[in-house]
Amino acid sequence: MAAAAGAGILPPMDAIDPPGRPTLDPTALDPTALEPGALDPTALEPGALEPGALEPGALEPGALDRLFREARTAYAWKPDAVPDDTLRALHGLLKMGPTSANCSPARFVFVRSDEGKAKLKQALSPGNVEKTMSAPVIAIVAHDPKFYDELPRLFPHADARSWFAGNWSLADTTAFRNGTLQGAYLILAARALGLDCGPMSGFDNARLDELFFAGSGWKSNFLVNLGFGVWGPEYTRAPRLSFDEACRLA
Ligand SMILES: Cc1cc2nc3c(=O)[nH]c(=O)nc-3n(C[C@H](O)[C@H](O)[C@H](O)COP(=O)(O)O)c2cc1C
Repeated sequence: MAAAAGAGILPPMDAIDPPGRPTLDPTALDPTALEPGALDPTALEPGALEPGALEPGALEPGALDRLFREARTAYAWKPDAVPDDTLRALHGLLKMGPTSANCSPARFVFVRSDEGKAKLKQALSPGNVEKTMSAPVIAIVAHDPKFYDELPRLFPHADARSWFAGNWSLADTTAFRNGTLQGAYLILAARALGLDCGPMSGFDNARLDELFFAGSGWKSNFLVNLGFGVWGPEYTRAPRLSFDEACRLA
């Protein structure tokens, strides 16, 4: 059933993952293949993906590699365009990620025209100009502070609009929290569709909002550069915190 539903939404794989897209060498996860200092093997905790750790219904390890283990932040891009159908498929996936009371506050602008990029460039931090301008598409992840006006339709089970209308602080916190989640869903959905991502928060939010959202009231959160990454030897993976450092069992 899932395949039948997806058939009408997803573009053919060769449209979203052109032949020749570089994939990371799986042996890069073998500690013996690592350059000294390149990676802390314990940060990957490969034992966590041993078959015994996977619940029935878990994604196959190759899918977990694409979403997490081998996926890297991209800073340089092939010139290949991202088809409109792929952007629609991207939104079709990310919108299904959960938000509180189904409030769905995120709003997205996919910038890809020369005119749009020139406008966006004015708000970027100097160090982010090249890596952003060279991306075929830049997603502005924003949110609508008045998201609650859609709640009678999005959450018809209760009068959820009244929880937020008139309570600016709760509405603002809710929009930022859930809009950020939806930006993360966008990153994972993009990776699932064969795209690479370069998230960016180094820009002037107020300036971007003047340039793109005057009149709408939408607020920018962060950017996600999208396309097909070009990988250089300098892009070594930085370590992550271990389970014991980042987690507590209670
Ligand atoms: C919300 C967010 C904002 C970021 N902002 C910037 C940025 O302004 N400039 C930049 O060069 N990288 C930026 N990054 C990239 C991170 O440094 C990078 O994703 C992180 O180091 C992990 O790299 P990896 O995916 O290759 O392991 C940002 C990442 C995120 C998620």
